[in-house]
Amino acid sequence: MARILPSMASQMIIVLFLLYSLSATFVSAGGDLGFGRILDKKRHKLRKPKLNHFHFFFHDILSGRNPTAVMVVPPPSNTSMTGFGSVAIMDDPLTVGPNLSSKTIGKAQGLYASASQEEFALLMVMNFAFTEGKYNGSSLSILGRNPGATSKVREFPVIGGSGLFRFARGYALASTHDLNIKTGDAVIEYNVYVLHY
Ligand SMILES: *[C@@H]1O[C@H](CO)[C@@H](O)[C@H](O)[C@H]1NC(C)=O
Ligand SMILES: *[C@@H]1O[C@H](CO)[C@@H](O)[C@H](O)[C@H]1NC(C)=O
Ligand SMILES: *[C@@H]1O[C@H](CO)[C@@H](O)[C@H](O)[C@H]1NC(C)=O
Repeated sequence: MARILPSMASQMIIVLFLLYSLSATFVSAGGDLGFGRILDKKRHKLRKPKLNHFHFFFHDILSGRNPTAVMVVPPPSNTSMTGFGSVAIMDDPLTVGPNLSSKTIGKAQGLYASASQEEFALLMVMNFAFTEGKYNGSSLSILGRNPGATSKVREFPVIGGSGLFRFARGYALASTHDLNIKTGDAVIEYNVYVLHY
């Protein structure tokens, strides 16, 4: 009896050691470092993404007493014809119809900057902040290159979103509906295709 006990104790130690090393393996496979862990996608309702299409008009108003876009950094006077270096900030209304007095569904908030020295091209960085219906409070984030009216349809990637648009990705197609060459005021038609959960 006295001889068996020490050997049982050593077997127990081996079993415990194996259990410990196995659990350590599982934990490291799960990536648990104390600040990050892998979650179950289904439990977080991330099953099938929906494909959504949005159609609206974007009003970029530079003229008058209430402009919706303002140039915050003018182009250095001695640079290229493309206005390279200029930056404008916008808070442009998004409406269901081409008329500004039609229903507003949100705002395009962000900036555009002239980012090409050889040809006209803007860097677009903006959020479509929706204020209507179930999308009220949710937003889509856009980051893209805008070659302006030289291209009939401009395409910008949708790189993410918030609220109902968490994990969003997709693209936005923009075409000029109306442009006042004198003032620069423009109405742009948008078709946005978004995958989200
Ligand atoms: C543009 O103007 C700035 C400031 O006046 C000057 O320092 C710079 O050399 C000019 N650049 C060219 C290409 O003329
Ligand atoms: C926009 O709507 C207003 C008010 O309904 C109207 O007076 C105006 O003529 C419309 N503009 C255009 C371009 O249709
Ligand atoms: C959108 O949400 C804001 C803040 O919760 C609220 O004040 C506003 O009335 C809502 N707008 C619509 C059209 O539901």
